[in-house]
Amino acid sequence: MLITECISLFHRGSAVAKIVGGNVQKYDHIQNEVKMWVFEEQVDGQNLTEIINAKHENVKYLPGIKLPENIVACPDLIKTCEDATMLVFVVPHQFVASVCRQLKGKISPKCKAISLIKGVDVEENDNGFRLITDMIQDSLGIRACMLSGANIATEVAEERFCETTIGYRNKADGELFKEIFNTPTFRVNIVEDVVGVELCGALKNIIAIGGGLVDGLKLGDNTKAAIIRIGLYEMRKFAKMFYADVKDETFFESCGVADLVTTCAGGRNRKVAEAHVTTGKSFDQLEKEMLGGQKLQGTSTAKDMYGILSKKGLCKEFPLMTTIYRICYEDLPPIRIVEDI
Ligand code: NAD
Ligand code: 13P
Repeated sequence: MLITECISLFHRGSAVAKIVGGNVQKYDHIQNEVKMWVFEEQVDGQNLTEIINAKHENVKYLPGIKLPENIVACPDLIKTCEDATMLVFVVPHQFVASVCRQLKGKISPKCKAISLIKGVDVEENDNGFRLITDMIQDSLGIRACMLSGANIATEVAEERFCETTIGYRNKADGELFKEIFNTPTFRVNIVEDVVGVELCGALKNIIAIGGGLVDGLKLGDNTKAAIIRIGLYEMRKFAKMFYADVKDETFFESCGVADLVTTCAGGRNRKVAEAHVTTGKSFDQLEKEMLGGQKLQGTSTAKDMYGILSKKGLCKEFPLMTTIYRICYEDLPPIRIVEDI
């Protein structure tokens, strides 16, 4: 059988690389080797890519988890992606614009993309922001799906059962990526709503900061539930205000309510926000101290969204997101999370 497909994965992607690497071995029409672009770093004086290829383990970002041997880490972005017919994007949203700039003109127009990135790009357009899938589509001239769900990376990598959602514009693309990602412990559902899936993933990171603040304040489970409910309401209101086609049902998928619950219980944004209350340290300092090189997405997305809401005079309509921004960036006391909403 002709081998035609090649997949490039961007980093900590490592958890999904494990899934993809396992799945492609089931299909004759997909090339078995999966290239994974890794932003090169030194770990104990050695290149991270070389360590990954020798030990089949991402010792920095996903220690203790063996990757399939058909996952090959590469430090060169263009070489990793130039022959790909499927591209999986999993970099923190801060870096995706630079990745797309480097790939522009180098990718086959037949290639299909999927983004796992939870965030948006701030832009001077009518909305004030651009979806990452739109950035990929516009800059590379290829179609992009979106995968998002209640998927804490370590639990995914340990093969504990979870669900996820793929949003598609073209059903064949959705089905193709379902084949690539679905496993008995990583159950994929596909929906015709790329924008809804993507905005759920971006906005829940802001609400997760709220979840961590109430934990730090020791306000209890009822308060946490209230933050989750109000957060979900504001997420849906925001998404539908900017994109009228977003579907209500999407908020009941894994990418909606389930991701919000998991991120407010076990995510990095929650953990750092709790520490902000208990230590009084800034989010920037805590990100460096607590996350070992990983990035906090909730604070920067809160800032991006506040910029948009304030420009459009909408802050009063989104009191939770606005208050979370002010606690993160304007030194508002954390207790205002319950006083101002
Ligand atoms: P992360 O927060 O761990 O960030 C570290 C990654 O950024 C490393 O892979 C590092 O190599 C890379 N990096 C550092 N500098 C870079 C640069 N200049 N250019 C490109 N890459 C650079 O990343 P993550 O946890 O893999 O998250 C990536 C995306 O996937 C995010 O949008 C996140 O919301 C989403 N996501 C994360 C999880 C999770 O549980 N971690 C789950 C689902 C989705
Ligand atoms: P954090 O970025 O808050 O860790 O959330 C991870 C996630 O998106 C789980 O689905």
